Parts: sequence; structure tokens; C-alpha cells
Amino acid sequence: MVQQCAEAQETMGAEGRVRLVMESALTARDRVGVQDFVLLENFTSEAAFIENLRRRFKENLIYTYIGSVLVSVNPYKDLEIYSKQHMQRYRGVSFYEISPHIYAVSDNTYRAMRTERRDQCILISGESGAGKTEASKKILLYYAVVTCTANDHMASLGDRLLQSTPVLEAFGNAKTLRNDNSSRFGKYMDVQFDFKGAPVGGHILNYLLEKSRVVHQNHGERNFHIFYQLLQGGDDELLTRLHLERSPQKYHYLVKGNCPRVSSINDKKDWKAVTKALPVIGFAEEEVQELLNVIGSVLHLGNIQFGEGQDGETDITTETQMHYLSKLLGVDGSALRDALTHKKLIAKGEEMISPLNFEQAGSARDALAKAVYGRTFTWLVEKINKSLALQDEVCHSSKGLIGLLDIYGFEVLQHNSFEQFCINYCNEKLQQLFIELTLKSEQEEYETEGIAWETVQYFDNKIICDLIEEKHKGIISILDDECLRPGEACDISFLEKLEDTLGGHAHFVTHKLANGKTRRVMSREEFRLLHYAGEVNYNVSGFLDKNNDMLNRNLKEVMCQSNNQILSQCFRREEVTDQKRPEMAAIQFKNSLNKLMEILMSKEPSYVRCIKPNDGKTSGRFDEVLVRHQVKYLGLMENLRVRRAGFAYRRRFEAFLQRYKPLCPETWPNWNGVLADGVSTLVKHLGYKPEEYKLGRSKIFIRFPKTLFATEDALEAKKPAVALTLQTSWRGYRERAKYKRIRNAVIVIQSAWRGTRARRRAKRRREAGDLIRRFIKGFIYRHQEYCPENDYFLDHVRFSFLKNLRKTLPKSVLDKSWPTPPPSVTEASEHLWRLNMKNMVLKFCKRIQPEWRKQLEQKVVASEIFKEQKESYAQSVAKLFLGSRLESEQINLKAVQTLGNEKVQYGALVTKYDRRGFKPRPRQLLLTSSFAALVDRTKVKQRIDYMTLRSISVSSRSDGIFVLHIPNEDNKQKGDVVLQCEHVIEVVTKIVMMAGKVNHVNISPGSITFAVARGKEGIIDFIGGPELKVAKGKKGHLLVTAPPLCNT
Ligand SMILES: Nc1ncnc2c1ncn2[C@@H]1O[C@H](COP(=O)(O)OP(=O)(O)OP(=O)(O)O)[C@@H](O)[C@H]1O
Ligand SMILES: [Mg+2]
Repeated sequence: MVQQCAEAQETMGAEGRVRLVMESALTARDRVGVQDFVLLENFTSEAAFIENLRRRFKENLIYTYIGSVLVSVNPYKDLEIYSKQHMQRYRGVSFYEISPHIYAVSDNTYRAMRTERRDQCILISGESGAGKTEASKKILLYYAVVTCTANDHMASLGDRLLQSTPVLEAFGNAKTLRNDNSSRFGKYMDVQFDFKGAPVGGHILNYLLEKSRVVHQNHGERNFHIFYQLLQGGDDELLTRLHLERSPQKYHYLVKGNCPRVSSINDKKDWKAVTKALPVIGFAEEEVQELLNVIGSVLHLGNIQFGEGQDGETDITTETQMHYLSKLLGVDGSALRDALTHKKLIAKGEEMISPLNFEQAGSARDALAKAVYGRTFTWLVEKINKSLALQDEVCHSSKGLIGLLDIYGFEVLQHNSFEQFCINYCNEKLQQLFIELTLKSEQEEYETEGIAWETVQYFDNKIICDLIEEKHKGIISILDDECLRPGEACDISFLEKLEDTLGGHAHFVTHKLANGKTRRVMSREEFRLLHYAGEVNYNVSGFLDKNNDMLNRNLKEVMCQSNNQILSQCFRREEVTDQKRPEMAAIQFKNSLNKLMEILMSKEPSYVRCIKPNDGKTSGRFDEVLVRHQVKYLGLMENLRVRRAGFAYRRRFEAFLQRYKPLCPETWPNWNGVLADGVSTLVKHLGYKPEEYKLGRSKIFIRFPKTLFATEDALEAKKPAVALTLQTSWRGYRERAKYKRIRNAVIVIQSAWRGTRARRRAKRRREAGDLIRRFIKGFIYRHQEYCPENDYFLDHVRFSFLKNLRKTLPKSVLDKSWPTPPPSVTEASEHLWRLNMKNMVLKFCKRIQPEWRKQLEQKVVASEIFKEQKESYAQSVAKLFLGSRLESEQINLKAVQTLGNEKVQYGALVTKYDRRGFKPRPRQLLLTSSFAALVDRTKVKQRIDYMTLRSISVSSRSDGIFVLHIPNEDNKQKGDVVLQCEHVIEVVTKIVMMAGKVNHVNISPGSITFAVARGKEGIIDFIGGPELKVAKGKKGHLLVTAPPLCNT
């Protein structure tokens, strides 16, 4: 089967939950059977048919197709297959693509209505309790949920469609032995859609309400739900108003079946649902009250009792009930009383009133109850119709219709009466319609596909329909005649009439007409019809009464005057004044049925055939005998035979090719040519024999299921390879797409970046151009005052000077280099130079050690005194001044002691020249903090206090002569001291520093005059010569020859 695998995956667990099972199609086929009966190999075998149903039922697969007919088996448990997700799954999906479902039928019908623009109908049939009403509710729900848009009006229409169901069920359904919620009327509902496919209106036709239930119920059955709901659910106030008591036992019409409570029914809850639904479907408060008055009145009517009056006439004994009744019915009490106990006849234009006997009065009462309830039910349907009616202002006209027929299925009871006769007649008509339409569509399909018509053998039930409905000769006509016939007509006379007229008809048998064998199983009051679905014996008793359905004229008159709005609409005055006899029930039924047939004929039908699996209303039990019975009565085998007459399977080329194309290299992965050629290539590759299939114009027809199964199995075997190919291609595609995406993204980023970069570069170039122009202009105007023309240039020059300066700053104090500043920053440059120098000096000074500081101080002093003054100074700079030129052991201790507390701070060897004669004498010159001393070995020869030291004279040459000038008045001194020393600059510097007489050094280039004792003077002359020489010269001067220094 095409969707075997998909279906196998969706099986139901014992708990009713969907479980996914991965199985090969073949195993699944063995286990869950085929999802379309046309694929049954042995399609003529009823056993195979039932076995397939059973297998599927066990797996909770309650739906199976026969072509486009849906067979549904009541699961008697809630399956989780009706959720919104399921609805969505079936939306827009073809039948064969997914497992069978009521939603598939709903959706296909809906789509056919929209695409083919033809009205559709769904015919739901099956015996009581098989699930017809449930199916129709599921379909309605599907339309309400899936096709309703958010639009307010539509949504409320959807609501009204859905809400009409509980109301209709409350008034028209009852608990029977076969079904706790059995619909006791036939229902045909139209849903109208607008051009957008949204429901815009609805209309209900009701058929043959089982009115007898109002007054009588079989054991174990109940009256219509509404009575129990009212008593259980109605609040105290309401019950008081209606003069009702809560217990159903109090009412004769509710006790016949002896079954007021049923575990599966919650009357209280249902009452709430009904009272909630009534306003939704347009009931005003008063209307609800009047409706309940009617329901209450029926209950009271049931309790009306009769007795014998004083004169032997029939009288009403329940006064209170009578009072309540007339009040609730809104009629005059005494008129009603009379009408219930008397009969009014009109004979030859004259009114005659005759009293009723005890039994007749009871019948009249029951007839009134039935009439009141029955007509109210019809009124209710009309009221709902008004509420569902197409709203002109919203939508001008409906663009499509879907009809839903939920009608009683074929009924065969122990005792079959008038109702069963009508019901089975209805089914006979529907079967006729089914055969006609199926065969017609089959034939049409063959014709459009250009395939030769293959004759289908089937049983045409026209003969039975005629037997029932033919004018003058049919059963209904005979019944009518018998009812109208003057004289004593009774059920038996009717039977005799039937025998007289129909005797010999192949489908009609009575006890009298039957052969011995049949006669044994028939009573004398029965006639048997050989329906298409089987034989049914009907008991004629009650046929005439039920057909007559007569309500006494005076009761009608009373009811016409009711001030209850509902009843006054139900009982029209014309009915009483009109002389014409109203139509009998059977004729009425026949006519409405024929109208229904016309309605259905004008539409394209879909079928849902419901089967109930057991009589116990229990889940999981599959009673084969019962199912076989239904399969037969529903004519399912006939269905299948017609459908399978030609070909088991047909599918549009594209669908067939799409599914099986992996099986042939030429069609895989795609067939680009004509579809028919593709299918032909494919089936040739698969080795189909010519007798196994035919190609139509748009469809392939396969004769045997086994051909298809073989193909399906081949596909199953091929799937891993196909999956691999698909996976590979998909992955390739995905990666390519990803690569493309990335590449495109890269290109976008790249171009954006390149654009940005180019823009930046252009901007920079532009700016650079501007800059260069400003620069050049600035250069031209550089000598002018600071102005806009040269501001940039000048700033730049300044800035770059400062910037470069940072790099070229002199690194040491000795480095006197400094970049030449542009004119505009000369002053700043000067400041900076100074600042920098100060900074370097500061840094330098901070780094100097104390000894070195001392050294430098001395050197500075030396420099201040001698720099560029004395020739030998330059040579002395590089030589460090020493702390002392004498080692401590060189100084005589005794001499030191003579110096007293003064500590020798410096010592040097000097040559002292006598003031007269200039005789050189070696001496040690020792310096203390307050005086200088000349020492000759152990003896201090002269002490010169610094205080007394006037000045010191040296020559400008490279000699080592220096003269210490001392004041003459000091008698202890013998005059100035002439000394020579190798380190004259060091020695003189030390003396002046210690003495604090830095400014008292005289440097003379030519000669030095010095004082000799007692006012006399000596002179030292200095001249240049080849070598240093000190000698006594002319005129008694000391002549010092000093060599020039080459590196001055
Ligand atoms: N699809 C379903 N899923 C679950 N339960 C179901 C389903 N169909 C029917 N039933 C059960 O079966 C019961 C009888 O179904 P329903 O009332 O639809 O029967 P029917 O064919 O309309 O009978 P009748 O001819 O007496 O009106 C329902 O009340 C419900 O409990
Ligand atoms: Mg029903």
C-alpha cells in the first residue's frame, strides 16, 4: 500500500497514545492490514475484509478506505487523533499521502468544493451506536477550526454551528439499549461557505423524530435527554416555576424504561452545556422559558390520569396536574380538559362531539404529548436554522455547500415496526443513490481517462425501492389507502392488502406467501422485505396508527389558542380550518426523502460508513459476527466489488511518478519529459505486464494489488539508497548554499571595507593637498606677521622645531650645541636652552660625591683665578688637586706639635727663595685652617696667619713662583715670602680658599714686586725661555725663565 509505512508509523498504543513504530512496509502490512480495501488481494472474500478490519482495529487504526469511502470502526475510547495538530496535518493533503482519517475526508471534500466549485455532501451511515454523530461532529469541528478565519462573524458562526449540536442532541437524542446517546431523528446539515472558503451559513433538515419515545420507552432505555437534564440541572426556582419535582420517578413518561440514571451520562453537566448554548444560537430569555414550559407541560401531561365520572364518562382525576398543564401550555384549562376527554368529528359539514372512553382518552393524551414535543422539536430546528442562516449583509451569496447527512443506518431489531420500515426504506434509497453515483463516477472516470468501460456486476436495488414507494402499488401507497379507507381498517387488513397487491414480488414475503421453511420463522402479523442488505421481518401492528399520527381536532383547536409563542407557531389555525387532510407520516417521509435524494444528487458525495465493533459499548472488543452483519447491511462488500470491478488502484501520473521514480534510473531524480511517458518508462522498467495496468489520460490504473505491493516493496528496499542520495545532495546543497552565503557576505564586507579605505585615502589625499598648499603659501608668507596665510606654516615650523629639539637636546653640560631656532621661537629657544642647561647642571650636581664636590669647588676657584690668566693653568685642569702633597709620615711630628691644636690640612714641598740673594731653600708648606707654616725639617720657620695675608702674586707664565704678601708693619715678619712649587695652581688655590681670599690673587705678566723687610722691595722678572730656570739676574732681580707650553 502506498502509504503503508506512514500509516504503520502511526499506530496507537494500548493507552490510546500515538506511538511511532519504525517498520518495513511489508511487516506493517501483515500486522495492520491494508489502509484501502481495494488493495485486498482477495477482495471478494468477506472473511478477508473482516480480518483486515480486525487487524487495524487491534492497532487502534479505526479508519480504512474503500477507494474514497471511509470505513470507521467505533473505538469506544478517546483516541488522541483529533487534535488541532492532526487537523493541520490533514490540511491540503491528498487521501493516499497519509493514513485514513475523518479529517482527510473533511479536507478533501472541502478542497473539492473550492477547486471544482461543486457542492459536496458527506453521507454518514451505520447502525445505531456506530459513531455517525461523532463522525459528523468531528467533521463540523474540522470546518469550524480549520476554515474559520479570525473574522468575528465567521467565528461566531463556527460557534453557532458547534453549539447547535448539544441543543439538538438534548432534544433529539436519548439513551437506547444500543447507544447511550442515540440520535432519534435523521439529520442533514448544510454548511455554506463564501468565496474565501470560510463558513457563512448553515441549514438543518430533520427527519422522522422518534416521537413515540416521548410516551413510551423500552426497558433500559430513556426518554429524550432534555427531560432528565431539566430535572437534574434546573435550579430550584425554575423547577418551582414549572411545578416540577427533581425526581424523574415522579413522571410517568420517564419511568417506562426504568432507567433514569446512566453512568456514561452526566445530565447536570449537559444541562449546563445546553443552557450555555441556547443564547449562542439566538434564544432570547423568554424563548428559553417558553421552551421549558413546553418540556414541563409534556411531563405533566404524562401524569394526567383518567377515571370514570358519575355518569360513566371518562374524567380527569388529576386536577393539580391539569392546572399546571394548562398553565404551562398557556391554554384554557376547561377547554383542554374537554379536548382530552372528547373527540370532535365533522361529518357532512356538521360537528359532532363524542366522549372518549378510558383508553381513547389515554391515547389522545399521548398523541398530544407526541405532537407537542414533535412540533416543538421541528420549531427548534427552524429556530436554529434562523440563527445559522446566511447573513446577507455579510456575504451576498454562498459560493459552496457541504452537506452532512447523519442518518439512521439499516436497522434490524427483534421486533421491527413502522419506524424500522421507514429507516430501512431510507437506507435503501441511500444505497440506490450510492450505487448510482459510484457507478456513474466510475464510468465518468473511465471515460475521461479514455479507458474502455468494464462492466460492473452489481445488485440494483431499484426493485426494492419501487416495492416500497411506487405510486398505487407500493407499500406506502397501500398503507395510505388503508388509513383513508372508510370502514374498519386495521393493521391486519393492511397486511392482507399487501399480500393481495404484492404477492409474488421477489422481495416481499408474508407468512401466508412464504414456503414452509420461512413460514416457521415468521409470525402471522409480519411481512418480510428482502432488502439489499438482508431480510427484515416487519410486524404490522401499530402501522396504521403511526402512519395516521392523528391528533384529535379539538385538541388541535385548543393548542391553536395557546399563548405560548412556540406552541402558537407549532399549531397553526389554518390546520384546523383547512379542510384538506394532512399528509400521512409515511407519505411525508417519502416526500422528504425524495427531496433529500434530490439534494444529494445535486452534490458530489463522499461516504463515511460507521461500524460498531461490539454490543457492549466497550473498547478493544471486536465481535466478528456483529461486524460481519454490519458489513453486509452497509453493503460494504458491494461497495468494494464495484470499486474493484476494474482496477485495484489508480493514481494520477504525477503522484505515481513522484513516489516511485527512484525505482528507475531514467526517472530518477527527475523526469523532464511528458508525464505519461515517464510513467510508461517506469512501469516498463519495473516489468509490469500489459494486463496488469492501463494508462489513462492522466492516471495509471493498476489491476491487482500484488503488482502495487511488489512496487511498494521495491521502493522500501530502495529507500536507504534514496535516502543516502537525498542526504548527500541535501548536504551538498546546504554546504554550497552556506558557502555562497559566506562568500556573498565576504564580498559585501570586502567592498564595504574597500570603499571605506578608498574614501579614507581620498580624504587623506585631499587633506594632504590642502596641507601642502597651505604649507607652500605659508612658506611664501613666512616673513610676514602671523596671519591666516602663514599661520599653519609658522605653527608647523615652531612645532617641528620643538619636536626636533626633543630629539637633539644636548646630553651633557659640556655639550654646548643647540639647534638654530626659527625666528619666531628665538626667545623661547633661549629660555629652553637655559632651562635645559640648568636642568642638566642640577642633575649633574646631584650626582656629585662630596670629595669630588670639594675637588670641583677648588677647580672652580682655580678657574676663576687662573683661567686665561696663567699659562700653566690649562695643563693643571686635567690634573686632580690632591688632599695633600705630603704623606703624613713626611711631616715632622715635632713641627706639628709646634703648630699647637691646629690640624694640618694640606702639605706640599716648596722652594723658598731668600729675599736677598735669592738663595733657594727646600721647605714644607703646611696649611691649617687659620694659617700657613713654612717648616724646615723639625722647625717651623715662618707662620703666616691668613688674617694677615694681604694677597698672593703669581706670574702669567708656566713657572711655579708665587709670592705671599704680608704687611710690613708686622715686625715679626721679614717681608713677603717668595716660594716656588711644582703645583703652584693647586697650592695657591688651597691657600686662598682656606684664607677666604679668593679675590686677592694678582697675576702679572712681566714682574712681581714684593716687600723685603724695613720698607725695601724686591722684584721678580719673568721671561720666556727654553727651560725653567730661576736665577739671580741683573739689578738684583730674581729672573725666572719659563718655557712656553705647547698645548696652551
Ligand atoms: N471516533 C470515536 N472516538 C471515540 N468514541 C466514539 C467515536 N465514535 C463513537 N464513539 C462512541 O460511541 C458512542 C456512539 O456514537 P454515536 O452517538 O456517534 O453513534 P451513532 O452512530 O450516531 O448512533 P445513533 O444512530 O444511535 O445516533 C459515542 O457516544 C461515543 O462514546
Ligand atoms: Mg447519532
